Amino acid sequence: RDQYHTVIVAGGAGFIGANFVRNVVSTTNWSVVVVDKLTYAGNLANLESLPVERVDVVVGDICDENLVNSVASSADAIVNFAAESHNDRSLHAAKSFLKTNVEGTFVLLEAARRFSIRYHHVSTDEVYGDLPIDTDEAFTLDSPYRPSSPYSATKAASDHLVTAWTRSYGVQATISNCANNYGPYQHVEKFIPRQITNLLIGTRPKLYGAGSNVREWLHVNDHVSGIMRVLEFGRIGSSYLLSSGIGVSNIEVLRLVLELMDHPSDFFDHVRDRPGHDRRYALDSASTRSDLGWSPTYTDLREGLCDTIRWYSENTNWWAAGKRGVEEQYRRFEG
Ligand code: NAD
Ligand code: DAU
Repeated sequence: RDQYHTVIVAGGAGFIGANFVRNVVSTTNWSVVVVDKLTYAGNLANLESLPVERVDVVVGDICDENLVNSVASSADAIVNFAAESHNDRSLHAAKSFLKTNVEGTFVLLEAARRFSIRYHHVSTDEVYGDLPIDTDEAFTLDSPYRPSSPYSATKAASDHLVTAWTRSYGVQATISNCANNYGPYQHVEKFIPRQITNLLIGTRPKLYGAGSNVREWLHVNDHVSGIMRVLEFGRIGSSYLLSSGIGVSNIEVLRLVLELMDHPSDFFDHVRDRPGHDRRYALDSASTRSDLGWSPTYTDLREGLCDTIRWYSENTNWWAAGKRGVEEQYRRFEG
């Protein structure tokens, strides 16, 4: 860990970025410079109570070359979480996804190249597309990129930029492709926090289609610990797959949330399915686990959901103000 002194965390005021910053502060002596545009998904409250002498927050856009160069000139590494991250939004307005996810990555890579600093790219399992529901197949590092949604297409494009900048210009970069995350500070537009907060305000959860789509759920703490391992031990030019092996259908996740929150198992509405809805994601993370000596600590979804439900129940101030707007937006999407 001594190889880094100052690390730029792009998108550090979002869900996973903020959990990463919290981990860095408690497990290293690095200084952190958060660069975040504070879109609807960025929230300074996610970084509350962190020591100001360790965490500097620069409000700005990763597409802004001057800003990025000015912070990169005195840093050792960039870890890029900054993105437009929600599939449903990408189906309605894709432009900002192209701008931030593709152009923003380009600007950060150019800065990493110019100042010869380490770059780590936080990406997703969705770049591989989806799998049939009733198989045990899982994506590996050899699987072809076949993204389905505007969001995942821009993430795939950004991964390709990283690979090209490493090969063409020798940028010291790594990529991690991670499964679905859950845990504290996740925006209430996403599946698990949306349903937990619906129940907390007495609204029926909303399930897309029949709910048979499968996601592989990894607690955000385990994602963050995986990224830390890549930063310490990752091979330049390599990608790493971070996943839990906990593949569960949406309806099963919802029934577990309903049970843990003392509601009947049929207390939800089926709503219109997401267009082009990816059926199943699964990653084979065996090689990452052995290469990095990493494995998730949350091996039981029930336990992770209990902790997450407790967090949302105890932090209503964090999410209550934004909840109505999110649900209004979903009604517009459905309309
Ligand atoms: P998020 O939407 O919660 O946070 C994104 C952050 O990026 C926000 O703070 C936002 O303000 C910031 N941002 C957006 N555009 C920006 C710009 N142009 N300049 C600077 N900052 C900008 O997202 P998340 O769920 O924390 O995801 C973080 C990263 O992890 C993304 O790259 C996403 O693709 C990837 N990922 C997410 C998951 C998941 O399940 N959430 C799984 C795998 C990979
Ligand atoms: O797989 C990693 C990806 O996981 C990340 O790259 C994305 O940034 C992240 O948003 C997430 O994408 P998903 O589309 O899988 O997550 P989302 O929380 O939007 O939805 C999870 C599943 O739940 C999906 O099958 C759609 C379904 N869903 C979602 C919502 C919001 C519902 O059934 N009802 C809902 O209200």
